[in-house]
Amino acid sequence: MTTLTVLPSGKTYEVAAGTTLLKALLAVGEPVVSKCGGDAKCESCHVFVTSGRKSLSRIQPVENQKLDGMVGVASASRLACQAVLGEEPVTVELLLTA
Ligand code: FES
Repeated sequence: MTTLTVLPSGKTYEVAAGTTLLKALLAVGEPVVSKCGGDAKCESCHVFVTSGRKSLSRIQPVENQKLDGMVGVASASRLACQAVLGEEPVTVELLLTA
């Protein structure tokens, strides 16, 4: 388990480590958007990681392609469907909500 804090709601949840950020957000009822269903095709699940970046899985090449290189520059932009949660606490800001 790990701690996931979500902005702008400011709510904190205990979620399973080893799952994608998208699945964790959907499981707790946060209004994350996932138009392609988690296949890294739409960018709608784009989040900004405000803390705990190192706890997430490595950035996937498809994320850099979809986010127009923002991942490599800021290292804080991720596709929630591609980022897998580790054991350390993570805080993310939803950029597009349902
Ligand atoms: S849900 Fe479409 S890119 Fe993540």
